[in-house]
Amino acid sequence: MIVAWNVPRVPRRYEESISMKEQDPAVACLYNGKAIQCLPMENGFVELKFDLEGDSVNKFNTLTINELREAVNVLKEQKDVRGLLLTSGKDCFIVGADVTEFLQHFKKTEDELVEWLLATDGVFSDIEDLPFPSVVAINGVALGGGFELCLSASYRIMSAETKVGLPETKLGIFPGWGGTVRLSRLSGADNAIEWIAGGEQYSCTDAMKIGAVDGAVAAADLRGAALKVLRDAADGKLDWKARRLEKISPLKLDKIEAGMVFEISKAFVAGKAGPNYPSPVAAIEVMQKGAGLMRDEALKIEAVTFAKIARTPTAASLVAVFLGDQMVKKIARKHTKEARPVKFGAVLGAGIMGGGIAYQSASRGIPVVMKDIAQKQLDLGMGEAVKLLDKQVERGKLTTAKMAETVARIKPALTYGDFGEVDFIVEAVVESEKIKKTVLADVESLIREDAILASNTSTISITLLAEALRRPENFCGMHFFNPVPRMPLVEIIRGKKSSPAAIATGVAYAQAMGKTPIVVNDCAGFLVNRVLFPYFDGFLKLVSDGVDFKRIDKVMEKWGWPMGPAYLLDVVGIDTGHHAAAVMKAAFPDRMGHDSKTAMDLMFEATRFGQKNGKGFYAYAPQKKGPPKKEADPAVPEMLNAVQRAEKEVTDQDIIDRMMLPMLLECSRCLEEDIVSTPVEVDISLLYGLGFPPFRGGIFRYVDALGTPNVLAAAEKHAELGKLYEPTTQLRDLAKAGKTFHAGV
Ligand SMILES: NC(=O)c1ccc[n+]([C@@H]2O[C@H](COP(=O)([O-])OP(=O)(O)OC[C@H]3O[C@@H](n4cnc5c(N)ncnc54)[C@H](O)[C@@H]3O)[C@@H](O)[C@H]2O)c1
Repeated sequence: MIVAWNVPRVPRRYEESISMKEQDPAVACLYNGKAIQCLPMENGFVELKFDLEGDSVNKFNTLTINELREAVNVLKEQKDVRGLLLTSGKDCFIVGADVTEFLQHFKKTEDELVEWLLATDGVFSDIEDLPFPSVVAINGVALGGGFELCLSASYRIMSAETKVGLPETKLGIFPGWGGTVRLSRLSGADNAIEWIAGGEQYSCTDAMKIGAVDGAVAAADLRGAALKVLRDAADGKLDWKARRLEKISPLKLDKIEAGMVFEISKAFVAGKAGPNYPSPVAAIEVMQKGAGLMRDEALKIEAVTFAKIARTPTAASLVAVFLGDQMVKKIARKHTKEARPVKFGAVLGAGIMGGGIAYQSASRGIPVVMKDIAQKQLDLGMGEAVKLLDKQVERGKLTTAKMAETVARIKPALTYGDFGEVDFIVEAVVESEKIKKTVLADVESLIREDAILASNTSTISITLLAEALRRPENFCGMHFFNPVPRMPLVEIIRGKKSSPAAIATGVAYAQAMGKTPIVVNDCAGFLVNRVLFPYFDGFLKLVSDGVDFKRIDKVMEKWGWPMGPAYLLDVVGIDTGHHAAAVMKAAFPDRMGHDSKTAMDLMFEATRFGQKNGKGFYAYAPQKKGPPKKEADPAVPEMLNAVQRAEKEVTDQDIIDRMMLPMLLECSRCLEEDIVSTPVEVDISLLYGLGFPPFRGGIFRYVDALGTPNVLAAAEKHAELGKLYEPTTQLRDLAKAGKTFHAGV
């Protein structure tokens, strides 16, 4: 069944069956590599199939690029070829360039990089310039370099079920194999800018709307439809040469139009991306500079700018984040070996967190009972879920039928009626050891012996909570972050008695909910809150030393945090922060907490709880749309006089060091104490749980970029501030050996 075709380039309906015979295995391969085969078909057509040996996906690694070059050279020598069909032997088409090779490439000099890019450009251009037409059958995702290859063919037909796109800007680079040149010529500068600067993946409808692909059909009909287009092109029914001319010629834009499109979008995109993410604007500049040029000249401009952008620290960091994410997912998969199936979940407490967890489970297809002691809370929890789903319906991401299905998967309850049937229970009642212990023990007596129980506590030790249970082996921590639907991280906490099956099931349930789980060992604050509170301690000490909290916020936001520490405390809730700080102080009295009253104590005593009640370090005015507006509150500086000494001279760098050192040293302590296993898990946890700035790659990447000896020197410089700044043995050892936390990079 043909879903749709772009007109007028391709006739609207192709119902005629495909008579072209499939390739005959008896006919010798024109090219037979480990990633690519070229097989002649009947009537002078040739199929070039990507099928990377020993891998589940096709990607542009060095091997594939080299083989493509060789295969295309073979094709160029053929006399009677009438058309080329590009296909994939895997579920995907080509997922992109091999990111694991990126960091090595990015270490090349600019000249070497340009040479490397132009060499691959040459192969893609050779496909475009073949003396016969080419059609790509995009059976599965074609992203980045994979889609850039597609753009070099005469026509693109995609399976209606898949997606295409150019996500390179998400890795701090931009399409460097002709993507900026070809997409702008095929789809217009405005559309190309949107696709390339945004880096999203697009459905066939979106792709056809801008002419990035020419047609979409059901997967089963893809090969036949692509062959039909190829034959029509070869027979002259489709003017493929005219299309090629369009792609290799300058962009059809007059000067005024060009000025408008490029200048306006540069300003808009720069504002959105911010100064730490230069690649989207660089991509627009490349398109602008290349607009009036022929393809090959425009490709050179793309390569030269790419070589500069690829060597920025941002690109290295974002690639490291991508690889770190994959590594963490791999580690998580290893934890799931003994996972028990979770077909029916339960959440205790329908508050901010319980409501969010129930929504998340239901929206990923796992039904869940949401139990609370108050009907009002259940109504609020359901109301919140409906609001979230409504938004998705509004944005066209969900149908009303699917929304109804999701809502029906959440079963609000005031009693424990269904608890005998549930596989996994997440406790998310108020943060009180006593209440949690009572609730957990009650629930344990009602659930199946093999059901797993987890607590979403933010601070209380899992080992301690397990004392209330008869089956502590079936219990673990499952720490979600607020707001649950948006925050990707879930800490799975291993108490002293948690069994591998409990951890495995927690990890698997978190994955099923679309989250990134990190397994950590039990301690106060686990990983994320344990390293966050030393950062807050650094902040409160700076304020006590007379530094204006608004200045600290500004410096830390400029450094890259989405919000400064005062603003963050207001958003978390001063009451919540105050309570958690006391727990942390009790657990780590040598370094956390303060001997005298702090700015947070003052806020707490004055019931300035932050955003939730309209005043904290700042004042908050409700707005019709979006979060409350943050404003300076003139009452606050006067209030803080009670805890502030006369301001010490501090530079912005001092502020950064005094804020970041406590956090990074605590991260190192967590590694030393085996709370967490690897630096990469720490990096990803802070990125996904706290919004650590991605352009810095992670906290240990940040330390590594500074150099461990320099970080050690900074810690020693601030030694008089106390134990929070005391270097760890690990840092000392690494610094002495001139090593980094992430070995080898
Ligand atoms: N809010 C956050 O940012 C955040 C983040 C991570 C973890 N947590 C943790 O999650 C837990 C819940 O926090 P929250 O912010 O959702 O609190 P909340 O006050 O919004 O909700 C708690 C809910 O528990 C219900 N409840 C109380 N006793 C109950 C019982 N015996 N049985 C069933 N329900 C009961 C209350 O009626 C209320 O609806 C706490 O342990 C908190 O530390 C909170």
